[in-house]
Amino acid sequence: MEMLKQRILQDGRALSGDVLLVDSFLNNQVDVKLMQAVGEAFARRFANAGVTRVATVESSGIAPAAMTALAMDVPLVILKKSASRILQDDILQTEVFSFTKNAPYQLTLKKRFVQPGDRVLLIDDFLANGEAAFGCIRLLEGAGAGIAGVGAVIAKAFQPGMRKLREAGYRVEALAPVKSMAEGKIEFE
Ligand code: G4P
Repeated sequence: MEMLKQRILQDGRALSGDVLLVDSFLNNQVDVKLMQAVGEAFARRFANAGVTRVATVESSGIAPAAMTALAMDVPLVILKKSASRILQDDILQTEVFSFTKNAPYQLTLKKRFVQPGDRVLLIDDFLANGEAAFGCIRLLEGAGAGIAGVGAVIAKAFQPGMRKLREAGYRVEALAPVKSMAEGKIEFE
């Protein structure tokens, strides 16, 4: 997606070899017009995938996922990174290890927002190691849903997430696949 790539080149900052700072339009401040275009781009790419729901992980995935759900006219389901303190019988949980934060967390899905037979499109801001994506897939499949695909706004193609998901048979679309990064230099695939 050319508009997104240009914005990354203009406003993104490669902090080191593997962290891309995009706080001014994706993580801390959101350019909603750009996110609307992101949602429309995902909707076009997955138009024939039979998507019945979009899912994402809080918090930075919500903006692009909401715009995708709007463009596809389907509900949005949000997976949380901690268990609810209210005891509930309809939650599914799985442990996910975040390499960025070097700590595990409990990814949580409320089962009643996914029906058996749903085809879920998983959208996230970043795809790095794929731990969050695989955790979501475990929970969504555990709830009886099928995975229509995985959409990443930015995928760091030099980290293993995208390859591992594809090897596992999932369709992955990255709007900005980053091939390499060094301080002050970002290259796309
Ligand atoms: P993984 O799921 O692909 O294995 O990645 P990892 O656990 O390492 O990522 C943890 C968090 O760091 C995620 O957000 C992810 O979106 C974010 N992240 C990964 N690589 C980058 C990067 O290069 N730049 C930026 N800005 N973020 C990155 P999170 O902690 O869940 O945060 P949030 O969604 O609550 O904002």
